[in-house]
Amino acid sequence: MFIRYNSKFSIFNYIVISILLCSSCNKDEEGIKYDYSHFIPSHFPIPISNPDSIPTEAQFTLGKKLFFDPILSRDGSLSCASCHKPSLAFADTVSVSAGVEGRLGNRNSPSLGNVVYQKKLLKEGGLPTLEMQVLVPIQEHAEFDNNIVEISDKLMTIPKYVEMSQAAYKRDPDPYVITRAISAFERTLFSGDSKYDQFLNGRTKLTAIEEQGLNLFMSNKTNCNSCHAGLLLTNQNIENNGLYSVYKDIGAMRLTQNPSDEGKFKIPSLRNIALTYPYMHDGSLKTLKEVIEHYNSGGSDHKNKNTLIKPLNLSQSEIEALVAFLSTLTDYNFIKNKNYQNE
Ligand code: HEC
Ligand code: HEC
Repeated sequence: MFIRYNSKFSIFNYIVISILLCSSCNKDEEGIKYDYSHFIPSHFPIPISNPDSIPTEAQFTLGKKLFFDPILSRDGSLSCASCHKPSLAFADTVSVSAGVEGRLGNRNSPSLGNVVYQKKLLKEGGLPTLEMQVLVPIQEHAEFDNNIVEISDKLMTIPKYVEMSQAAYKRDPDPYVITRAISAFERTLFSGDSKYDQFLNGRTKLTAIEEQGLNLFMSNKTNCNSCHAGLLLTNQNIENNGLYSVYKDIGAMRLTQNPSDEGKFKIPSLRNIALTYPYMHDGSLKTLKEVIEHYNSGGSDHKNKNTLIKPLNLSQSEIEALVAFLSTLTDYNFIKNKNYQNE
């Protein structure tokens, strides 16, 4: 998905963005704060948010309804959940998901698990808030190809939406409410109960091969953990991992126009990675084994390739061990969690 800065990013966007940023707009927003603290895995930090972005129950419920509602797309054919499927940790199984009329974008749909912790959104890290991100799929030609003002006009004619919107934000379902409510739902998508988490919490043991994979992942031999670090298995930096010598999608250079950013993408979280195939920004690698083989080969000769990406000389059994470790990152309780299913 590409934000077209020069085409649709027009006066319309300025109006919408000023609505989003208008601090006085939310002065009468209140309600019982939705206690989603019990959603937060005990070994995860409390997310840093401003008080406005801690969802209340009414906001969560409205946001969830909107997330699953195809009313957001121009022809009513798809919702956010068409590309961010709960059963796949809110990702998709195709390289690039189809938008309205089957139009294909350029990028693979990422998982929205733990998205509340992402400091920068999209693959080049160009957007700072979830509220702003909601506008991207809404107007993107190869996604909803729609207009938030028209969506809002439609929602205003549906009594249920007006009622839920009033309950959540004390205002009608305008662009402010649409962007806030969807983000409120997204901020509750915690995933931290994989086998790896149970191992970290002393509740289970890893098998010998999984443990071998964990040790390799953390070692100087592979350096995986230098980039895929911490609880989310990403340090959230923007890097070139040597996927190509020539990039069709130039990544962060789209934002900066600086050739030293060509082919750089946000380092993805590896949580639920076994469910979120295919891999990389364009979904070009189909299996985890192919990903490890990419790293084992040392990648391309691109001038921006990070120096940690170099031939690793891993044996077949070491490759299998890394795949076994990555498979412990699947959180089956997350994908089955009733709070996140469409009713
Ligand atoms: C047609 C498929 C499609 C639809 C529909 C769609 N998305 Fe996405 N989403 C994507 C793709 C592809 C990306 C990666 C785009 C990029 O980085 O440029 C993405 C990225 C995101 C991100 C950024 C995640 C991160 O870690 O950087 C968020 C958040 C998100 N989508 C939420 C939504 C919401 C909310 C909706 C509905 C309003 C939605 N998406 C609808 C395909 C889709
Ligand atoms: C220099 C930093 C860096 C190192 C070291 C690194 N990666 Fe990555 N990794 C990235 C970046 C950047 C991407 C995303 C590239 C893209 O989107 O095209 C990525 C993508 C991935 C993906 C695909 C994620 C997805 O959702 O598509 C997997 C799996 C992965 N890396 C595993 C590993 C493993 C295993 C190792 C060690 C053998 C490793 N990485 C080492 C930076 C790194």
